[in-house]
Amino acid sequence: MRTILVTGGTGFIGTHTAVALQQKGYNVVIADNLSNSNEDSVDRIEKITGIRAEFIKVDLSKELECKLLFETHNNIEGIINFAAFKAVGESCEKPIEYYKNNLGILLNILENMKKHNIKYIVHSSSCTVYGQPDKLPIKEDSPTQFAESPYGNTKQMAEDILHFTTQTNNIKAIALRYFNPIGAHDSGIIGELPNGIPNNLMPFITQTAIGKRKALTVFGNDYPTPDGTCIRDYIHVVDLAEAHVVAMDRFFENKNKSNLEYFNIGTGNGFSVLEVIKSFEKTSGIKLNYVIGPRRAGDIIQIWADTQYAEKELGWKAKKTLDQMTLSSWNWEKELSKK
Ligand code: UFG
Repeated sequence: MRTILVTGGTGFIGTHTAVALQQKGYNVVIADNLSNSNEDSVDRIEKITGIRAEFIKVDLSKELECKLLFETHNNIEGIINFAAFKAVGESCEKPIEYYKNNLGILLNILENMKKHNIKYIVHSSSCTVYGQPDKLPIKEDSPTQFAESPYGNTKQMAEDILHFTTQTNNIKAIALRYFNPIGAHDSGIIGELPNGIPNNLMPFITQTAIGKRKALTVFGNDYPTPDGTCIRDYIHVVDLAEAHVVAMDRFFENKNKSNLEYFNIGTGNGFSVLEVIKSFEKTSGIKLNYVIGPRRAGDIIQIWADTQYAEKELGWKAKKTLDQMTLSSWNWEKELSKK
């Protein structure tokens, strides 16, 4: 059984990926500092798969802690790196912390990969590297643009670090550029647990519907889009998790075409904020309280993925519809409210 280290494995995408890896027959070791998640994620994963993952509480941005993890786990064959701070707004207030944490973690991991001859890493990147594209849908070889935030910049810099480190160190990497992950596992056992007031659309919608927030503010309806609101490529987190498993398989099947590969992980469909609200209202049966507000600084107008390359190379395609995404997010919110 191959052992995969999932860093940030108790978080939103990490938990779903740990489940998918276990279900594919991988042995999963989870590392997380629990700064934005809870250790009970490990129980929840076990509840779904019947398999207990080893959990290590560790701050991988600390050189010594990271070193110790690799020294005590000599069976790791691949790494999926989710460990990072991820709040766009916060990153503008604390840029140094974001660079130190997000890039420090990656560098510490790469150093230990080299030392312990671990060859494979899947890294979580983001469509944010593209900025506002001139041409849609966006392909992997489209030019990247200067980031709108330190968070986005850490994603670009991480790709650059991977580009050069994979040229010399016998390391192969895949950067998955996620579009907008939403939804939750069908079991209702795992999902997103945002800290405090959510920045992202979907948790804000479900928290408003359940009564935790008064109203959703739609950030602008005067954009040059059909209904005036911004358009994103929302992807179900279960589809996204599956893409990580397929990327890891690709290493072991020796299918890589270069030492660093990039893939767009989206559905190829763009939906506006109002369309997401409409889908939510339909699947939940709840009339959402929302108001139209001013534009949010830094928002791009519209983006969606060209998914042909991922389909062809990875043999992976997102399957779930927007309605399935909004329904599963709602089921998860209801599950949370039972606590
Ligand atoms: N939105 C609202 N009201 C809210 C929250 C969001 O109208 O309360 C709108 C936004 O303006 C945007 C859309 O919903 O048009 C989606 O916003 P999110 O915050 O959910 O997602 P973003 O597209 O802004 O952010 C995502 C990821 C980031 C990443 C960024 C790159 O969450 O990690 O894409 O653009 F950096």
